Amino acid sequence: MYRTSSTSAPLPVDAYPAELLTNFAPRLIAWQREHGRHDLPWQNTRDPYRIWLSEIMLQQTQVSTVIPYYARFLERFPTVEALAAAPDDDVMALWAGLGYYSRARNLHRCAQVVAEAHGGKFPSTVEALAELPGIGRSTAAAIASFAFGARATILDGNVKRVLARVFGVEGFPGEKRVENVMWTLAGSLVPASSASDADVSAYTQGLMDLGATLCGRGKPDCERCPFAADCVARTTGRQRQLPAARPKKTVPTRRTWMLVLLDGDAVMLEKRPPSGIWGGLWSLPEAADEAALAGRAQAFGASRERTAARSALASLTHTFTHFKLDIEPRVVEMPRAAAPLEASDGQTAWVPLREIDAYGVPAPVRKLLDGLRGPLI
Ligand code: ADE
Repeated sequence: MYRTSSTSAPLPVDAYPAELLTNFAPRLIAWQREHGRHDLPWQNTRDPYRIWLSEIMLQQTQVSTVIPYYARFLERFPTVEALAAAPDDDVMALWAGLGYYSRARNLHRCAQVVAEAHGGKFPSTVEALAELPGIGRSTAAAIASFAFGARATILDGNVKRVLARVFGVEGFPGEKRVENVMWTLAGSLVPASSASDADVSAYTQGLMDLGATLCGRGKPDCERCPFAADCVARTTGRQRQLPAARPKKTVPTRRTWMLVLLDGDAVMLEKRPPSGIWGGLWSLPEAADEAALAGRAQAFGASRERTAARSALASLTHTFTHFKLDIEPRVVEMPRAAAPLEASDGQTAWVPLREIDAYGVPAPVRKLLDGLRGPLI
């Protein structure tokens, strides 16, 4: 244990053992070569387009979830130019279900900037990559390292966990002060300037692999870890305490009412405004309370009787990062000819339930509509 006091301030980098700072990279590279992952679909290429696409999808999303999306995107958009030229709706529809939709909008904008301002070639430095939409400091470093062999520092959630445990960095890593210390520590660990491109990429991948495989959040597999003998968390039995948890903050709950207008097996979808949650996706018409929703149903042409006779569908709670959303669905059946489209500011479409997948529909709305598929088709 390197700490000299019990305060929760993270230590400056020179307080960590010099030997571990210098041999961390070679040990990690050796471990990655033998035990790391080598066959993920975005490995074994230096094509910046493929690497960039994977890194954006992998932000906050697990490898197993990303793999099928990654394959579908590449099949549909084999080049950055093809992605840049695609209609917004196609990109959003292909992204639907991956969540964090601002990533998809930035992905599309980024492709357009690369195609138009960079002649279809991704820039090769961390600084220039980080100027592009949706590419933060760590993602820029991952791309520069995998595609161009840059000795660049990554620091995502997995890496923060590894560093917090191995070096005993105290404090919640989402806090700026702690994060700054971690950036400096991570920067001091990157391979020496004599390292080859292959070493650099094995190192970067090794950090990700260690965090995702052995040093997971739940039960770290310390027995197989190359840093077990040095790891502060391991040697002091604090694997569960490091990294420190986010200070408790209750997330607010919002409630929304959603209108499920049905005509036979078709449901009416409404396109959401381009910004805000689920921006640009197709969803159900919403209102802030039940009476307002009944008003919207009538504006779409449903009679009072039909609105009153609506059938039930279970409510659903979706958890976002900063709040929970309670969704109260109300089903109203009516013939579509009666729906005047001016009842909506946005675009609307009657969509057969079995064709929902062709539209970019947020995952919880999709789940809610799945509840209808059984009885109706
Ligand atoms: N998470 C972020 N980037 C990754 C990568 N290249 N491989 C596996 N997991 C990752």
